[in-house]
Amino acid sequence: MTIKVGDKIPSIALQVMGAEGPQAVTTDGLLAGKKVVLFAVPGAYTPGCSNTHMPGFVIHADKIKAKGVDDIICTSVNDVFVMAAWGRDQNAEHITMLADGNGELAEALGLTLDLTGAKLGVRSKRYAMIVNDGVVELLNVDDKGIEKSSAETILEAL
Ligand code: BEZ
Repeated sequence: MTIKVGDKIPSIALQVMGAEGPQAVTTDGLLAGKKVVLFAVPGAYTPGCSNTHMPGFVIHADKIKAKGVDDIICTSVNDVFVMAAWGRDQNAEHITMLADGNGELAEALGLTLDLTGAKLGVRSKRYAMIVNDGVVELLNVDDKGIEKSSAETILEAL
């Protein structure tokens, strides 16, 4: 079942890159007591994600945070090393790069995307959420294109 507005984000153990290497985090720890924009991409370094989706959030990060957002989090079904390298390449220092290496978050949210036909395995759908204290306030899923989940759309919604 797909997560919907009003639902709490399930508790999932994930990774970010810390100063000493991969660091364990949980959705609970990342989201509790905060207003967060969480966006997901089908794959680090893929053209749409690198050329359009991520750059929008990098460009608009300050404006998004000025609307009362504590953190912007980007997640993808990629390992923590790839997510860290992609974040560096994208100058995404104001964005938390959250590695969902096993696809457990995508699965728990009901937002997996089967790209096995393209030899990419099972990934995450492209989406953006506004999450307040762990509860989904807005969920925009793009089954095609990068319209509903763009930084510009989320900025307008905030
Ligand atoms: C993209 O361009 O964003 C993309 C390409 C292939 C698979 C998934 C995403």
